[in-house]
Amino acid sequence: MTFLGIDIGTSGVKALLIDEQGKALGDASAPAVEPVRPQPGWSEQDPADWWAATLGAIDKLKQSHSTALAAVKGIGLSGHMHGATLLGENDAVLRPCILWNDGRSAAECAEMEAALPNLRNLAGNIAMPGFTAPKIAWVRKHEPDIYARIQKVLLPKAYVRLLLTGEHVEEMSDAAGTLWLDVAKRDWSDDLLGVTGLNREHMPSLVEGSAVSGQLKPDLMARWGMSGTVVVAGGAGDNAAAACGIGAVRPGEGFVSLGTSGVLFVSNEAFSPNTEGAVHAFCHAIPDTWHQMGVILSATDSLNWLSRITGQKQAELSGAAEAQFKGPGETIFLPYLSGERTPHNNAGARGSFVGLSQSTDPAQMAQAVMEGVSFAMRDCQRVLADAGTAINRLLAVGGGSKSALWLNMLATNLDMEIALPEDGDFGGALGAARLGLCAATGADPMDVMSMPPIKSTIAPDKSLSAAYSDQYARYRALYPAIEEAIS
Ligand code: XUL
Repeated sequence: MTFLGIDIGTSGVKALLIDEQGKALGDASAPAVEPVRPQPGWSEQDPADWWAATLGAIDKLKQSHSTALAAVKGIGLSGHMHGATLLGENDAVLRPCILWNDGRSAAECAEMEAALPNLRNLAGNIAMPGFTAPKIAWVRKHEPDIYARIQKVLLPKAYVRLLLTGEHVEEMSDAAGTLWLDVAKRDWSDDLLGVTGLNREHMPSLVEGSAVSGQLKPDLMARWGMSGTVVVAGGAGDNAAAACGIGAVRPGEGFVSLGTSGVLFVSNEAFSPNTEGAVHAFCHAIPDTWHQMGVILSATDSLNWLSRITGQKQAELSGAAEAQFKGPGETIFLPYLSGERTPHNNAGARGSFVGLSQSTDPAQMAQAVMEGVSFAMRDCQRVLADAGTAINRLLAVGGGSKSALWLNMLATNLDMEIALPEDGDFGGALGAARLGLCAATGADPMDVMSMPPIKSTIAPDKSLSAAYSDQYARYRALYPAIEEAIS
């Protein structure tokens, strides 16, 4: 028996095969078409691209690992969260999906909170434009013809699941990010749905991430040479999936992710909201488990932007920053290129470089970008601590964790050791594959979601702690000082 994890990311789909012991057997990826930005602050993707990339990645596995692929008995899905995939009659897609990093619905968030004063208590979260429900409120106001045709609203991975199984199903960790879930009860909330004029009929049914959500369609089984029954697990939103992949499932276990977005994630024993600091309080993908996250919208995406405008590759920029690094630089970068969630909840915020001089070069700007993202993660740690949350263990995941300099900055700023997993995939695809294993075999998720072997542990650089604390204080003072100018 083998198991397949499919991670539907904003920039591509990764498919990973594991064996019964959870060992990786092989993986393949296919790029997705980059999100389009029809207006500043908007971000959309065509759901057909996720499906094409999913088929592309698994077809590649069929070429490279046909025997292991044929032995698949359980599939798990991980996906970028919050995207609103609107389906009409016969499950036809009504418009491009409005993604997690789309900030168009700030006005609708305020209107929703005014319409349901108890919203924050019920949802355990602030109405933020990143979440799904405000996007529907925007469609209702600006595209009433499309709104009138909505029959189902699915998150990105639930749309891929629909094409894999024919079922409309979602699991708790992703459902929590819609703002329609009663996160404490792990059930849709009629009151929250009512604020956007929807009801349970518009929602997929709910399962736990480690439970069976459906079976793979016969034509797809034939395409990939599979036989018997192949179950598809509920899976997880990409962050909860990454947590399953690195074994962050018990209270206080967490990770810091430097991906397109930046995430500080910690598992909780119970549902623990802190709406003040724009903390995300969601269900975990495992029954009776919850988690909190601080989320920043542009982590490696900030370096990606610098790379685009300087014409230098991201690795070149971070390498040059590392080569010239002598401690905190003079330039400060606010990474709010797509607005910000934690801690400001301001979709209209924009990025800023402060303290540029005639001698500032791309390497120094890259250092400032990496520092700005590290300070933003320090902000996340501060608001999680305000919620009473202690983080006992932190692993690093995501593309940015390949940079030793960036990890040092993070460890020093968070004042915590950060463990780096050995080479291999400890992201969403592994967590998803593990959830597929649980659904197919009935194994206890707490036993399956173990910590991977650790390559190295990065300790805070105490010689830089004071200088970084001073720099962080300057960083924190900047947003309130220039908020009006950059919003
Ligand atoms: C989490 C979030 C992002 C996306 C994209 O709230 O919006 O991390 O899941 O990866």
